Amino acid sequence: MRIIVENTYEMLSLKIAKDIVVTVKNKPNSLICIAGGHTPQKVCEYLINSEKTGKVDFSQCFFVSLDEWVGLDINTVGSCVETLYTSFFNHISTPSKQIRFFNGKAKDLSLEIKEMKEFISSHKTIDLILLGIGMNGHVGFNEPNIDPEQDFIVVPLDPITKEVSAKYFDKTVDVKEGISLGMKIILESKNIMLMANGIHKADIMKESIEGTISNKIPASLLRKNTNLSVYLDILASSKLSKE
Ligand code: F6R
Repeated sequence: MRIIVENTYEMLSLKIAKDIVVTVKNKPNSLICIAGGHTPQKVCEYLINSEKTGKVDFSQCFFVSLDEWVGLDINTVGSCVETLYTSFFNHISTPSKQIRFFNGKAKDLSLEIKEMKEFISSHKTIDLILLGIGMNGHVGFNEPNIDPEQDFIVVPLDPITKEVSAKYFDKTVDVKEGISLGMKIILESKNIMLMANGIHKADIMKESIEGTISNKIPASLLRKNTNLSVYLDILASSKLSKE
């Protein structure tokens, strides 16, 4: 595990964007997964800028979604897919046929999972995954006490996830379940980046990095992959032991 600490959210986001650019330069047809939510938003901004200024070319990349709220699709502002199209995919050169997202509104979620499985398998594995962390330690919708052996999941949302969800939506949205890449697929990724910023994430980051590896704190399971890089701003890192 590598831990990278930067002073500000902006510096942290810039560092991650630069590291993603290196991955794409080394493998232009990389399969990349970027979490929705607020944390990676600035990274997306820097990545768009990197392509605009000729530092990277995303036209051969493939992107896959991490998760979605069951019942929501791109037409709901604040869904994962809407967030990422608005803040990223609409501004880069990747053709839409190279982007595969879960449709949370699909009648048959098992078919969504089957198609996602085929899409990922056709690339063997995810080259790079950028994750945020929930206040309960979830990654994607791998909620506390998740079965770490599952490759894809449809799960009831943890009460903390439901409570926090209100920050994404401009109207009341009653979310109950999530569809997500499971811990097994996440752990098979070649390069895992876990990103957190802000003092509100300091306690959960300490537990995830220094506590027992356990499915009670799903993010702690990421430590099983030696290619884990943890990116923190100074506030999110503030509770870590000082050695
Ligand atoms: C979103 C996702 C979630 C978030 C996490 C942090 O697609 O997978 O696991 O990454 O809840 O959310 P923010 O970044 O909004 O604090």
